[in-house]
Amino acid sequence: MTDMTRTQVGVVGAGPSGLLLSQLLHLQGIETVVLERRSRDYVLGRIRAGVLEQGMVEMLKRAQVADRLSREALIHEGIELAFAGRRHRIDLKGLTGGSVVTVYGQTEVTRDLVAAREALGGQLVYEANDVAAHDFDSDKPRLTYRVDSGEHELRCDFIAGCDGFHGVTRQSLPRDALRAYERVYPFGWLGLLSETPPVSDELIYNNHERGFALCSMRSRHRSRYYIQCAADEKAEAWPDARFWDELRARLPADAAEALATGPSIEKSVAPLRSFVAEPMRFGRLFLAGDAAHIVPPTGAKGLNLAASDIHFLSRALIAFYEEGRDDLLDSYSEAALRRVWKAERFSWWMTSLLHRFPDSSPFDARLQLAELDYVVSSRAAATALAENYVGLPYE
Ligand code: APR
Ligand code: PHB
Repeated sequence: MTDMTRTQVGVVGAGPSGLLLSQLLHLQGIETVVLERRSRDYVLGRIRAGVLEQGMVEMLKRAQVADRLSREALIHEGIELAFAGRRHRIDLKGLTGGSVVTVYGQTEVTRDLVAAREALGGQLVYEANDVAAHDFDSDKPRLTYRVDSGEHELRCDFIAGCDGFHGVTRQSLPRDALRAYERVYPFGWLGLLSETPPVSDELIYNNHERGFALCSMRSRHRSRYYIQCAADEKAEAWPDARFWDELRARLPADAAEALATGPSIEKSVAPLRSFVAEPMRFGRLFLAGDAAHIVPPTGAKGLNLAASDIHFLSRALIAFYEEGRDDLLDSYSEAALRRVWKAERFSWWMTSLLHRFPDSSPFDARLQLAELDYVVSSRAAATALAENYVGLPYE
């Protein structure tokens, strides 16, 4: 009977961060127990984004969970920006010396990680309620939680807070020890998933006077579309036909013409926010992913930032257990935050460039168009976008 009262790293949250960390540490012989509040079905059923940087794909390969991705994912060498009725391609591969992005849903990444954890006998505790972190300012941190079988305590060397924005680990930190930086955008995204062929081979980011629109996909027969909506919009107020009409109205004529529509599989509204909590480490508690930072989805950085945090955290924990080093643990927060803030800047910039702000004046609208025109007509500006979009180096 596995001792569930003691482990090396206690991980809170079975999202991409927690699962990837648990898998990478397992492959180095380091034990983890993952405590997840929701059920296995819920974790596997969540619909999220799906554009992976090369760094994230490398991480998934290192974690030995990239076989299906290698077979099924789409490789994109470019994206499109559309404005003033015209489409402009940004040649990601050409402008970055060969870097590309991989289109593969976060749902699939999570599915592959859960399968790998289970295949290796990973300790995943689902429906763990009232998870609480204790004594992480000592060298004997503990996690307590409740499952059907009653109250439990997990003693560990380290706690990894991978429990997302609404999780408990960041909340359990002393108020005065945390600095939070935030920007909430005055609009949201209404997303729709449909079993229809994508309108284009690559993603189209549309700036339009009626608001932003994004044409994305999950495969050659499954599409994902988003339109900018009011922050308090209700998905129920958008029957499919209304969504398709509004999307078509925001696309350049040829894309609007080519748009294949069909019944929605999923439809939901997501708020847009930029958020960073500093520092990302308190004693023996380390925050990673959405538990420490949120980006608006316009730059496709949410999932990729979670992976880069786990790059730094897994490396630091492995160095601790294999070489007794704690310098990488000490520099984790600084190293992770340097890359987080660059992705925050890029995501804020893409959001500012492509959305219609309620208080924007005709002058603002002209500036947006001028900046878009500059980006698609200047190699230097297009390269800056491309290198951020494919993912900046981890170091
Ligand atoms: N106790 C245990 N588990 C919890 C708790 C809690 N109190 N609170 C939240 N969780 C779980 C959630 O149910 C979820 O499964 O933590 C997990 C956090 O996962 P994510 O929110 O996916 O966060 P992360 O793993 O950091 O992944 C970030 O997910 O939201 C997207 O855009 C985001 O792509 C980014 C990625
Ligand atoms: C998605 O496919 O869901 C997606 C793609 C790119 C983004 C955001 C979301 O910037």
